[in-house]
Amino acid sequence: MTNQAKLSTWASNIAPSPTLAVDSKAKELKAAGEDVCGFGAGEPDFDTPEFIKEACIQAIRDGKTKYAPAPGIPVLRDALAENYRNNNGVDGVEAAQVVVSPGGKYSCYLAILAVISPGDEVIIPAPYWVSYPEMVKLAGGVPKSVFAGQESGFKMTPEQLRESITPKTRLVIINSPSNPTGAIYSPAELQALVEVCLEAGVYIMSDEIYEHLLYDGVEHVSPASFSKEAADAVITVAGFSKTFSMTGWRLGTLMAPLPIAKAVANLQSQTSSNATTFAQFGALAAMQNWDQSMAAVSGMLEVFDRRRLRLLEGLTAIPGVECARAQGAFYLFPKIASFGMAGNDFAAKLLEEEKVAVVPGGAFGAEGYMRLSYATSDDVIEKGLKRLTSFCAAL
Ligand SMILES: Cc1ncc(COP(=O)(O)O)c(C=O)c1O
Repeated sequence: MTNQAKLSTWASNIAPSPTLAVDSKAKELKAAGEDVCGFGAGEPDFDTPEFIKEACIQAIRDGKTKYAPAPGIPVLRDALAENYRNNNGVDGVEAAQVVVSPGGKYSCYLAILAVISPGDEVIIPAPYWVSYPEMVKLAGGVPKSVFAGQESGFKMTPEQLRESITPKTRLVIINSPSNPTGAIYSPAELQALVEVCLEAGVYIMSDEIYEHLLYDGVEHVSPASFSKEAADAVITVAGFSKTFSMTGWRLGTLMAPLPIAKAVANLQSQTSSNATTFAQFGALAAMQNWDQSMAAVSGMLEVFDRRRLRLLEGLTAIPGVECARAQGAFYLFPKIASFGMAGNDFAAKLLEEEKVAVVPGGAFGAEGYMRLSYATSDDVIEKGLKRLTSFCAAL
């Protein structure tokens, strides 16, 4: 053996998460005393609601510090199933169809591992969340991206989907509200996509992690709620990170047809065991006190909405920048193609010269765009907009 590491096919083919990389570079600069305006993080800047934290602390005091069943503590799976029935309109969901995982990211990965065999194709509408293609590759699958730019509201059409399906297609990923664009499919648009999938006999992974972060009165619907046939074809993934500002708790959820949920539970039992036991008791408090939870979320949403509108106004005022009015999550995804620079160079120069951190669109399969998260303070937004304006003017 030489010093040269002999990495596996999986490790050699995987790219590091570019969003986490931008965030850690910004944090590094900050730690070195630089005044950085960070728009990179996909993380709410609020604290976790106090009653959720208290329930977790109490669980530790009560000795809930041991292994739990791999798919989650039964009371939490019951509460999640009830929530899917009552609030997402998915009839007849049982606790056995629900798995609690160590993060929505892990839910996505296990959903993909549960249905993808080597060589299977997975359709991923672009702009997409950075991790989907890498997860598909880790499962031996082949990611096939379908581009839908600003002109089409960042949404894949049923025609595009139909044309992209081949005999090898096994799964289509839908993420509404979307990271990185904040776009939301209407119920009718989702229905049309689901119909194409049902006709073709392919599964859908519906990533609904931003389901509660909605603005302008738009509504979120779960594709699994459309019909029994749809429920049999959809794997719904979500989690606690974004809704309740619980990113560090590492708690994700998955709801699927029973055989898939069982397969996911098996995969989880062999790869991570249960999500942290006492953290699940915090999540249980969020589910069992739903009105209080939603009140906490609407407080955060009010602040997010104000920041969204301010950032949107500021970005659209910059000559050369075009920005769509995103109605979900906490991201804006402006087009910067008019500056004629590669996105990576634009972002690197912006960080170096103006100390403004953004994620280049290429990371999301969309060259010529950049992602800004407004899960940051009003001050950072004001200062960042000023710097971005002078940066663009000088290009
Ligand atoms: C679209 C999307 N799905 C899933 C996740 C996973 O979130 P977590 O693992 O924190 O639950 C994220 C986080 O950035 C996301 O943006």
